[in-house]
Amino acid sequence: MHFKQTDTPLLAAMEHYVKDGVIPFHTPGHKQGKGMYPTLQNLIGKEALSLDLALIDELDDFYEPYGCIKDAQDLAAELYGADHSFFVINGTTGGIYAMILATAGPGEKIIVPRNAHRSIIGGIIFSGAIPIYMQPEIDDELGIAMGVSPETVSATVAEHPDAKAVLIINPTYYGVATDLKQIVEIVHQHDMVALVDEAHGPHLKFSQRLPLQALDAGADICAQSSHKIIGALTQASLVHCREGRIRVFHLKAMLQLTQSSSPNYIMLASLDVARMQMAVEGEKLIEKSIDLANWAREKINTIPGLICFGSEKIGNPGVFDFDPTKVTVNVKALGLTGAEAEKILRHEYKVQAELSDSYNLLFMITLGDSEYEVKFLVSALTDLALKYARPLAHAGGGDLVHALYPAMPKGVLSPRDALFGKTCMMPFDQSAGMICAEIVTCYPPGIPVLCPGEEITQEMIHYCQLLQKNGMHISGPEDCTLKRIKVVNR
Ligand SMILES: Cc1ncc(COP(=O)(O)O)c(C=O)c1O
Repeated sequence: MHFKQTDTPLLAAMEHYVKDGVIPFHTPGHKQGKGMYPTLQNLIGKEALSLDLALIDELDDFYEPYGCIKDAQDLAAELYGADHSFFVINGTTGGIYAMILATAGPGEKIIVPRNAHRSIIGGIIFSGAIPIYMQPEIDDELGIAMGVSPETVSATVAEHPDAKAVLIINPTYYGVATDLKQIVEIVHQHDMVALVDEAHGPHLKFSQRLPLQALDAGADICAQSSHKIIGALTQASLVHCREGRIRVFHLKAMLQLTQSSSPNYIMLASLDVARMQMAVEGEKLIEKSIDLANWAREKINTIPGLICFGSEKIGNPGVFDFDPTKVTVNVKALGLTGAEAEKILRHEYKVQAELSDSYNLLFMITLGDSEYEVKFLVSALTDLALKYARPLAHAGGGDLVHALYPAMPKGVLSPRDALFGKTCMMPFDQSAGMICAEIVTCYPPGIPVLCPGEEITQEMIHYCQLLQKNGMHISGPEDCTLKRIKVVNR
């Protein structure tokens, strides 16, 4: 049976099962909510709980779909222009693990940007691949990483012609897109596979005013966080692929390896419905978010002390295009750090940013926002700038921008060998010259500062200490205060 984009075959099958009044002698143990503690039962609601179902014949097989899950995935592939699409229940993190495992095995090289999300480092650890890092372009004014330029990709693939794949993050968390089409061409000319972490791009397809989506740029595999940008539930993501350069069966096997054998059906159904919603009204919804975000950007740029970058950055190194729905507000001229401004907004104005870094706050405008929220944000920022501007001398770390992104540490061992080798704990401030044996990540946005296998430098120690001084949260190491660090015991 051929379904239309207005259909939701997975949700329909689930609803049919519930309406049929079957007595379930299968998981989940709460039996459609009946056995659940009443507090939780009431909180979630009986209707939703009745749809918390299990892998039974008429609801298909998640690992080897042949029925309603396959129909729903095929509709996603049709909408996004993929040869195959797969539902993923542990976020783009799970999708990235699978795409790395599917393309670069133990000891094989994979080229990735240095500002990779920790899921990329995680995938590399699982696979035992050797990461070759590319430096993204840095915008010194804002203190953030932009995209990796085609020139950098070209130089890196030429230097490492034996690499199996190149992974690009596009767009970045801040909405910056590189020239992906040109990069994919370079990658393919060298007979490598082009992978894209498109966590921030499930909406790109639906407006001409947004950067090109990975599949349309010719990428072989991409992973999108449908839950981050469009209407799916948290953790629900999509992996899309194109046949030709990859073994689809192998990708499928790796997706099985990295995911639970008990998928949450409500989460899966949310992917089905979010796809239908985008097919039916995606263009209208995304155009509206872009208009709202552009309106906010214009207003924010009239507030003394605030800068909200936009398409004027296009043409700068690493900036080929831009997603305007990512509203990044630089608060440096107020003499505040991003973390300070985030806390003030949260507690005094009840406005929560997506993330803050040294001097920026990122606000996401999505299909869930209306004029009300966006006007509220602008008025809160106006008030904050008036009330909290202070001389730079008192700011939490005036020199931080210049300390941003220290030179790339030298990779001495593969991340996997360092992680699983003999290790010991050392005082962090005395660890220069040693090999790191854990991931040190700055949260948000989850970008690793140090990876297992890398040589710790004095510059890196200083940088981490500055991040901590600026209120940023370190995650990953055994000792999250970073007084001590796990190193390879040589
Ligand atoms: C660039 C990037 N890639 C991957 C991920 C992981 O996505 P998920 O949270 O869906 O697992 C994130 C999450 O923030 C991200 O920002």
